[in-house]
Formats: sequence, C-alpha cells, structure tokens
Amino acid sequence: MTQRPEIATIVPAAKESILRRIARVWPYFSGSRSGWALGIGATIVASATEPFLPALLKPLLDRGFQSGSFNIWLVPLALMLLFTVRGLSGFLAQFALAKVTNDGLLRLRSAMFGKLLSARLTLFVNQSSSALANTVVYEVFNGSSMLINAILRLARDVLTLLALIGYLVYLNWKLTLIVALLFPAVALVIQVLSKRLYRLTKQSQTATDELAYVVEENVMAHRDVRLHGAQASQASRFDLLSHSLRRLSMKSTAAYAGMSAITQVLVAIALSAVISIALLQSAESTTTVGGFVAFVTAMLLLVAPFKSLSDGTTPVTRGLAALERGLDLMNLNPDETGGEFVKARASGDIEFSNVSVVYKADAVPALNQLNLSIRAGETLAIVGASGSGKTTLVNLLPRFVEISSGAVRLDGQDIRTWNLACLRSQFSLVSQHVVLLNSSIAVNVALGQPVDRKRVRECLGAANLAALLAELPESLDTVLGHNAMQLSGGQRQRLAIARALYKDAPILILDEATSALDAESERFVQEALQRLMHGRTTLVVAHRLSTISQADRVVVMEHGHLVDSGTHAELMARGGRYAHLHALQRGDS
Ligand SMILES: Nc1ncnc2c1ncn2[C@@H]1O[C@H](COP(=O)(O)OP(=O)(O)O)[C@@H](O)[C@H]1O
Ligand SMILES: [Mg+2]
Repeated sequence: MTQRPEIATIVPAAKESILRRIARVWPYFSGSRSGWALGIGATIVASATEPFLPALLKPLLDRGFQSGSFNIWLVPLALMLLFTVRGLSGFLAQFALAKVTNDGLLRLRSAMFGKLLSARLTLFVNQSSSALANTVVYEVFNGSSMLINAILRLARDVLTLLALIGYLVYLNWKLTLIVALLFPAVALVIQVLSKRLYRLTKQSQTATDELAYVVEENVMAHRDVRLHGAQASQASRFDLLSHSLRRLSMKSTAAYAGMSAITQVLVAIALSAVISIALLQSAESTTTVGGFVAFVTAMLLLVAPFKSLSDGTTPVTRGLAALERGLDLMNLNPDETGGEFVKARASGDIEFSNVSVVYKADAVPALNQLNLSIRAGETLAIVGASGSGKTTLVNLLPRFVEISSGAVRLDGQDIRTWNLACLRSQFSLVSQHVVLLNSSIAVNVALGQPVDRKRVRECLGAANLAALLAELPESLDTVLGHNAMQLSGGQRQRLAIARALYKDAPILILDEATSALDAESERFVQEALQRLMHGRTTLVVAHRLSTISQADRVVVMEHGHLVDSGTHAELMARGGRYAHLHALQRGDS
C-alpha cells in the first residue's frame, strides 16, 4: 500500500493547541445557531441545578428533624421540581446536540464528496478507495458525534464544577481551598495521557485503513487468490495487521483507563482530607451536621464531573483526530484547474508538440519529446509494445494525465487554456476497463446527461445490444448491480460504446477497447465501433491489428517515442517494427 500523504501531517497537527484544532473544524458546525443556543441554554440550566440537592439537605438536616417553624413539605416538593427541570434541560441538550452534529456532518460530507469529484487525479493514486470511503462515510460521522458530544459534556462538567465549587466556597472556603490544591496534579495527568492517546488514535486509524484495504483487495482478487492458492499468505498478511490493531487498541485502552484511575485516586485523597478536616472543625463546633452533610454531598457530586472531565478530553482528541483526516483530504488535495476557453463543439484538430510526461521524479519518461498531429476527422491507430506509452498519450487529451513539458493543442488551443468541463465534453472514451454504476441501464448510458429514452434505445441498438435489452426484465430500467458483474465482457464493452454514442462527442478515444474480448464478441463490438467512429476524429489504441487496417494512418510507439508512421500498407511494405509486430501477432493467433 502506498504511503499516504496525510501521515506526514500528523506530527505538526499534534503540536497545535486543541483550541486551534477545534477552530479548524468549527466552520462546519457553527451554522446551526439555534442548535447551539438551545444546547448551551439547556446545559447552563442543567448545571445550575446541581448545587440545589446539597442545598436542600442542609435545612432538612439542621431544622427538619426538630419540630419548629419550618414547613418540611417544601423539601420533597422542591426535589420534584428540581428533577423535572433537570430532566427537561437534559432532554433539550441531547436534542440540540443531535441537531448540531447532524447539520455539521451534512456539510462536512458534502464538502468531502465534492472534493472527491473535483480533486486532482493524483488523489486516487495516493489513496485506496476503501480509505477514501472510510474517511468520507465513517470517520467523519464518528469524529463529529464524538467531538460535539464531548464539547457539550465538557461545558456541562465545567459549569457543574463551577456551580458546585461556588456553593462549597459559600459553605466553607477553607475546606474548598484543599480541593483546589489538587487541580494542577490532575491537569498534568490529563495532559500527558491525552497526548499519548492522540498518537495511538491516529496510528490505529491508519492500521484500520490498511486492514480495510487488505479486505478490499481480497474481495477484488478473490478468484486469483484461490487459483494461486494464496489464502495462507493473505491470511497471515491480514493477521499481522489485525494483531497490530489489537495491540494499539489495548494500549489506548490502558492509557484511557489509567487516566481515570489516577484521577479517581487523586479525588479520593481530596475527599479524605476534607472529611478529616471537617471532623476536626465539627469538634470545635464551627460546622453544623447539615452544613457538613451538604458539604460532603457537594464534594461527592464533584467526583462525577471531575472524572468525566478527565475522560472528556479523550473524545475531543479522538473526535478531532478523525475529523482532521477529513479536513486533510480537503486541504491537502488541490482541485483540478482549467482555463477559460470554451467552444461548443471542437472540430477535432489535435497537435502534440514536444510532449514529455514523467510520472515519478526519477522514473524514465513515459512520453519523451513526442510530436504528432492529427487532422479533424482522421482515424489514427496507435500501436506499440505494452508500456510504450499509448495509454499515457491518449489520457493527456481529457487531462487525466498532466504534461510535464511541451504542449497539447485542440483546435489550435493549448488544452490547459480550455475550460475543463468543456474540454472533457469533446471526448468519448472507451477503454479496456469499463466501469458501470449501480443504476439503471438508461442512467448508465446517458451518464451525466438527461435521459432521453428514445435516444438511449437507439444508442443501445447501434451498439448491438438490442437483443440483451429484450431479455432484461425491466428493459431500460433494469438496475445493473455492483459494477454490472452479471454482464459479459462484450456486453459491458458495448454498453460503454452506447454511452459514447449517446454522448456524441466529436473526438473518440478507444484504448484497447476490444483486447479483452473473444473473437465472437469482438465481431459484435467491432460493428458497433464502426458506427461510433463514423464522422469523428478517432484515436484507436489496439493490440489486434485487425482493428487497425481501416485506419487512415498508423503510428508505432516505442519507449515514449514515435518510431514509425504511415498507412497499414506502407508500413507493411517498409518491413520495419510494424511488420515485426504484425508477424508476432500472426504467430499468436
Ligand atoms: N499512474 C502511473 N504512475 C507511474 N507510472 C505509470 C503510471 N501509468 C503508467 N506508468 C508508466 O508509464 C509507462 C507507459 O505506460 P502506459 O502509457 O500505460 O503504456 P501502454 O498503454 O502503452 O501499455 C509505463 O512504463 C508505465 O509503467
Ligand atoms: Mg495501455
């Protein structure tokens, strides 16, 4: 698996303060004003009610059990009122939380999917499809619910602590001072452990991705794995990753559990100190029974928010780590850029001048100073050994590959100055690998354009698919399923041709469109292709020389250069590399 670019950014991100990191994801969650207002309001109310329970105990104990002036029935009534208010505010806070989370998630997901649609194609070389799907679908969901939950809980805990501490100071400030002394110790524990947790979280996300990738690969290659008896090696590859994932998960659980254990011990120390001192004070009769019980109750009530506060930063860092992977996806992958030039329909003059393409810095150029011009309406065949750069050459036209030096012109205009959508609308591409979407046949054929059912039918007919259409239960509306696996190679190929016919672009690129087919289906496809090529500028990359003999001109490629060019007959007569290739092919079949 290739090293993904975002790994490099983990380290600097870890050094940023939490607030800075929250500020980066904030724009996605700041939109739901009403959600935040409701959430914060309800949280404040819920926290403010916290000291009321011990505050009710004080008069109850000090005066309630003596017959006197105090109306004791007020206490249960107040208790009922108190819990009603708390329950209601708790409900509203939860509800608001869900709103904020889901609104943010909606924005984030559509921004990320938008990025998938507009990012430079290098993104798909650097990241596997499972990693991308995982980030867009699962990670941002987990991340945002964890983060927003944690932030509101953090707010509730802090407010509850403040309310309780305020009450404690009011009751007995000396005792409260002792509690305060323990704060720095707890803060230190939290800091150290949450850093470790952050690192572990990032690592386990990467390991999860890798695990998913192995599964994805094995699903795609299930036949090859069985045929080659590679189950054992694949299983051990999977096990290795599973084990490292387990190790990471155990480590992070240990860090997490250790954090709350240490916090609890610190809290217990504080409590013990408070109780001892309060007992001493009561001996000097400066504290009443009610005052003491109220104080200890308030102290005990402190433990829950205190403990949850110590855990509280964990979901924040975890949530942030997950969301940051989504943000990195958007920030580290620039969009494709195009120019301004637009033209409804290109006439189809193409010129490559001194074009070089280097995929990786120190690799041999895939295209090397190549010059070639193609006239509008011409059918050009490109032949050459595998790896000679044929696919690279044709992929330059819709800018699926970027030029390293030189220029490609369409109708005399550098393709980099063409508006990208307009440029791409000039090409139909049928390649060896046909990808079909899990939608109806009609949608697959009309891809990206409104569905005109009559035209879809015509295009399918012209692509020699009328017979298939008649067999399908729901005709045009039959859903093809996952990559249309139930169709044969030839049928899939003809669907791609129907798609190209429907698009009706002026320039046609065929990249080994028929090389994966047997002779019988090739004949069907070939006929369909002839109809498709009619009246268009066509670039045909082909292995089978039978496809080539009708071309106006044939160019022969070798190591990223053009080494020969001419008609089929001329090249054969010259007896050079082309004749050699031809002879090889004859020997094959
Ligand atoms: N995405 C890529 N990254 C790196 N190298 C590539 C990539 N695509 C193709 N190449 C390399 O460029 C050369 C030309 O490949 P290609 O254009 O696919 O040749 P052909 O279609 O003639 O078989 C090969 O050496 C191949 O390994
Ligand atoms: Mg190729």
